[in-house]
Amino acid sequence: MSEGVQTSPAFAPRVFSGIQPSGGLTLGNYLGAIKRFVQMQGDAPGETIFCMVDMHAITVWQDPEALRRQTRELAAGYIASGINPARSILFNQSQVAEHAQLAWIFNCVARMGWMKRMTQFKDKAGKNAENASLGLFGYPALMAADILIYHATHVPVGEDQKQHIELTRDIAAKFNHDYGVDFFPMTEPVIEGAATRVMSLRDGSKKMSKSDPSDASRINMTDDADTIAGKIRKAKTDPEPLPSESAGLKDRPEARNLVNIYAALADISVDQVVSENGGQPFSAFKPKLSELAVEKLAPISAEMARLMTQPDEIDVILRQGATQARTIAAPILQQTYDIVGMVR
Ligand code: TYM
Repeated sequence: MSEGVQTSPAFAPRVFSGIQPSGGLTLGNYLGAIKRFVQMQGDAPGETIFCMVDMHAITVWQDPEALRRQTRELAAGYIASGINPARSILFNQSQVAEHAQLAWIFNCVARMGWMKRMTQFKDKAGKNAENASLGLFGYPALMAADILIYHATHVPVGEDQKQHIELTRDIAAKFNHDYGVDFFPMTEPVIEGAATRVMSLRDGSKKMSKSDPSDASRINMTDDADTIAGKIRKAKTDPEPLPSESAGLKDRPEARNLVNIYAALADISVDQVVSENGGQPFSAFKPKLSELAVEKLAPISAEMARLMTQPDEIDVILRQGATQARTIAAPILQQTYDIVGMVR
């Protein structure tokens, strides 16, 4: 298991994470999540379980055909990046009904006040919170259910999901306390590496996001080499050259972002990037970054495109993954129902 991961002695280590199929995959999703999942698939001692959270995606309206395509494309992205369905369980959330069933129990455990503090809800609902779906408000309880239906102990995510994992722990603790059991684990977020928060290429104060209206703000996993190079060339920077020490990136969010992206793509430290490139202008560093990005991403997007020509095979993999997932989830749901007092 990777650095910084501590396992709770009472629960066998198990890794779970999910991504919404609510748009195309971005470099932020890849570096902050999928690349880390692939590393954990190799290192983690227990099962690794990865999900396309389609029920989370519909908390804001999705065109049904687009949702189907994006779910398959996300599965292709996981597989093309190195998630091996023979080593990890890969499936879409709606095929394992236990997620929704446990989420209902958690809707009855979580408090309104906790949900109202969630920054992702505030960001997504915007000024018009009264008009947001009830699903968007309850989203973190479903996310807690995704994790706890497998008694997952470790959840690799980007920094933006930290608050939701803390809420997952609050829900587990309240359930355990209210029913006098030690049934759900205190899940640990695993937020590690140089790219836990990849920022927009146009604005260093905003997260790179699939929902940003400006396509130039992000690198999509399906962008071709010219598009990637063009977006990096136009990425916002400041006029200073690169510093020689990482402390020099403080208060330079755009410069820091490009250095972090380079470090994460090359699997080297930020210190190494700046010590090798310190003093260079961005006009010299950006072409190097483009070359590296294309070298790492082009094989993934080519493999995604190939997999997308065989959608039936993707569907078979997802159905098999769902069957495997249910063998873990179903007994945990039954035990939860027993604890709560439901007759069966
Ligand atoms: P989602 O679909 O927004 O993002 C999927 C994963 O990608 C990470 N990520 C980023 N990391 C670094 N920089 C960025 N700019 C960036 N953008 C996205 C996210 O942190 C996440 O790890 N609520 C989750 C999905 C979810 C989930 C779960 C995750 C549902 N149930 C259970 C873990 C466990 C979400 O909206 O992720």
